[in-house]
Amino acid sequence: MANVGIIGAGSWGTALGILLCNNGHGVTVWSAIESEIDMLNEKREHVDKLPGVKLPDTMVFTKDVKEATDNKDIIVLAVPSVFTRSTAHSLKDIIKKDQIIVNVAKGIEETTLMTLSQIIEEEIPQANVAVLSGPSHAEEVGRGLPTTILVGAKDKETAYFIQKVFSSEVFRVYVSSDILGIEIGAALKNVVALAAGMADGLGYGDNTKAALITRGIAEIKRLGVLMGGRPETFSGLSGIGDLIVTCASQHSRNRKAGMLMGQGKTMKEATEEVKMVVEGIYSAKAAIALAKKYNVEMPIVEQVNEILFSDKPCKQAVKDLMLRDAKPENDDAQWSK
Ligand SMILES: NC(=O)c1ccc[n+]([C@@H]2O[C@H](COP(=O)([O-])OP(=O)(O)OC[C@H]3O[C@@H](n4cnc5c(N)ncnc54)[C@H](O)[C@@H]3O)[C@@H](O)[C@H]2O)c1
Repeated sequence: MANVGIIGAGSWGTALGILLCNNGHGVTVWSAIESEIDMLNEKREHVDKLPGVKLPDTMVFTKDVKEATDNKDIIVLAVPSVFTRSTAHSLKDIIKKDQIIVNVAKGIEETTLMTLSQIIEEEIPQANVAVLSGPSHAEEVGRGLPTTILVGAKDKETAYFIQKVFSSEVFRVYVSSDILGIEIGAALKNVVALAAGMADGLGYGDNTKAALITRGIAEIKRLGVLMGGRPETFSGLSGIGDLIVTCASQHSRNRKAGMLMGQGKTMKEATEEVKMVVEGIYSAKAAIALAKKYNVEMPIVEQVNEILFSDKPCKQAVKDLMLRDAKPENDDAQWSK
């Protein structure tokens, strides 16, 4: 049995807590929002985020962050990416040397263009930072529906340890050493999910969705490989796998926000209606800055930025994507003649 601390009691932190309790581990969850801890202790259900899912009796909720971090084999960082730096900063003095921190958030910092593991390492240099990512909606993991996911860690021992702790008959965990590739796929899929939602909102069909997913992963991979990610990671769970689920799922808040914009709502109206942090909006800005920095063509990311920040109509953006210069599917097209 392992002892796991979870920082962040939103949908994902709670769902992973349920999974880990069911795996027989000790789980202590902390939230920056004290009223959330009171509600969870009182109701033993995350009423807003995982309604109808009873929390295991063994799951401990605390307002004392040290209780969630002291003597833990693993600390899971499960706050939305906009809070990753501030949360890591607040933990820096209480984290022990070589403490394993598994980041499960998805995003890139807009101002620095750093990935979340890089931010955590900068704030908590003594930690051993790993990531967990893949097609895994909290609503389904919380209900024990079969899910596959990927752990990225710097050393083999850490990767296999995390794999063992999280694995179960409903949660199959693969390992990888490509932390950067995993994080780029995780952050940028939310931008394509906004586009997929916009297409849904416009009333477009499955062909459009498949086009966005396929060409979306092509541009994510183009950037990710130049940044140092491995090409095969983008064909795996944290690449195309996560992109498929985010673009297709009823649970995706990014897709939902995009859909509302496709139906004519402004970005502000759409995010207010979704109520939760729409990370793709932040990642869109970071992605376009990275595209410029690495001199990579990212047409979908570009159009999403124009819709979000320059009030371009969604329909016009699709038209502009369709009428780009004709080209081969892959840059390295090889002809026999
Ligand atoms: N929900 C999912 O299905 C899912 C799946 C995989 C990965 N993720 C990723 O996990 C991360 C968390 O997602 P979520 O769905 O749990 O989000 P959420 O919106 O449900 O999380 C909100 C939680 O963040 C914490 N929080 C709020 N304000 C804070 C602050 N100022 N400082 C620190 N913590 C604060 C609170 O515990 C709050 O409940 C995101 O990056 C998301 O992309 C989510």
